[in-house]
Amino acid sequence: MAETGNDIKKAASLLRAGELVAIPTETVYGLAANALNSDAVAKIFEAKNRPHFDPLIIHVPSFDAVSLYASEVPNEAKQLAEKFWPGPLTLVLPKRDIVPDLTSAGLDTIGIRCPDHALTRSLLQTLDFPLAAPSANPFGYVSPTTAQHVDQQLGDRIAYILDGGSCEIGIESTIVGFEESHPVIYRFGGLPLESIIDVVGPLKTRAHSTSNPRAPGQLKSHYAPGKRVILGDISILLKEVSNKVAVISFKTDYKIPNQIVLSPKGSLHEAARNLFSALRKVDELPVDIVFAELVPNEGIGRAINDRLTRAASAH
Ligand code: TXA
Ligand code: MG
Repeated sequence: MAETGNDIKKAASLLRAGELVAIPTETVYGLAANALNSDAVAKIFEAKNRPHFDPLIIHVPSFDAVSLYASEVPNEAKQLAEKFWPGPLTLVLPKRDIVPDLTSAGLDTIGIRCPDHALTRSLLQTLDFPLAAPSANPFGYVSPTTAQHVDQQLGDRIAYILDGGSCEIGIESTIVGFEESHPVIYRFGGLPLESIIDVVGPLKTRAHSTSNPRAPGQLKSHYAPGKRVILGDISILLKEVSNKVAVISFKTDYKIPNQIVLSPKGSLHEAARNLFSALRKVDELPVDIVFAELVPNEGIGRAINDRLTRAASAH
């Protein structure tokens, strides 16, 4: 068990000493360390068992800090940050040398974002360095959306958990990079594609699974619970298979015992908020298999479908 509370001073002094602190954000909880201190960043990789080829996102208190760590900020990056920061948008930009190679996994770019959570923004404002923070889960597993989720899996490896309640959005940030100064989506997330198009017009997406990922969040099998997840039409799946099953549905009540309905009223935002808790919950249920269904592929629904598809690719 890690010590848990909302003491920003304590979190700040641990981070200054090069320790790990879990932090709340509007998307998911992050496992934070001083992004400019290689020894501190190394502890993140160790605690998560994360491969060193997987770069970390740097968290800053405001857009003003971006030019300290990024050597170039394309116009469209500026426009997106102006419109959506603080918020669930990560920008991939050319890196300055001040950011250690370990943080960027040797890439000459960094992922950078300004999270929208009052506690974490106050924390960032008191620090004179940015925070590297991947999601606070063991590599490949479902991201945590509560302090308890973090504690269950990484509690014995973290100095302190800053408890900011459950995450408002519940799914990781949308990642946008720039290729020849044109924006490209690398990962669907909390900020809908439609909102980005409103600002920069139509853009490419490379958020599909690949064996040579630009963002390892693109790895085909990721964000996965321990149980086998099968995606499809749940009413048909329930007829065909006899194993002990759990169901994760969008809004339909299938009237079986081990069932989680993500949003009875059919809200994609509510479904996103509940998705990762649901994937964790089915791991605790006495079932062998999980049936799940895709949600409407629009707005934040794209990110939900992306995570469900990856969860289903794991076994
Ligand atoms: O919402 C979020 O983004 C959360 C919260 C804690 O901020 N963080 C998060 O971090 O999801 P993580 O490490 O679980 O996922 C970050 C993804 C990884 O797949 C990583 O490869 C990608 O961001 N990434 C980071 N830097 C990158 C870069 N320079 N180029 C391409 N992808 C990058
Ligand atoms: Mg992650």
